[in-house]
Amino acid sequence: MKITFRMGPDENREVPFEEGETVMRVAVENGIDGITGDCGGGCACATCHVYIDEAWIDRVGVPEPDSTEACMIEVAPADPKPTSRLGCQIVLNAALDGLVVEVPEGQ
Ligand code: FES
Repeated sequence: MKITFRMGPDENREVPFEEGETVMRVAVENGIDGITGDCGGGCACATCHVYIDEAWIDRVGVPEPDSTEACMIEVAPADPKPTSRLGCQIVLNAALDGLVVEVPEGQ
C-alpha cells in the first residue's frame, strides 16, 4: 500500500505504508521534509499538519469541531484549510491505499 506526499508543484514522493501506521509515522520514517512529528503523535505540536487531497477528504474525514485536533490545526504555522488534518491522527488502512496528501509550503 502506498501514500503520496505532495511536496511542491513538481515534487511528489510515493512511499509504502503498513496497515495501522499513521500518516505522520510514515512521513518521519521516510524522511519527508516538513513533517517532523515533534510530540510523537500526541496531538500537541501540529508539526504533522497536512492538507488532504480533495479527492480523499470524504474517506479520510475531518476532525470534530472543537476537538483537540481541530484546535491544534488552528494554531499550526501554515494556514488551516477545510482539508487540514494532523497526520498523527490518521491511521492508515487498505481503504486509504493511494492516499495523496500535501505538505504545507514552508512547514
Ligand atoms: S505529531 Fe504532534 S500533533 Fe501530530
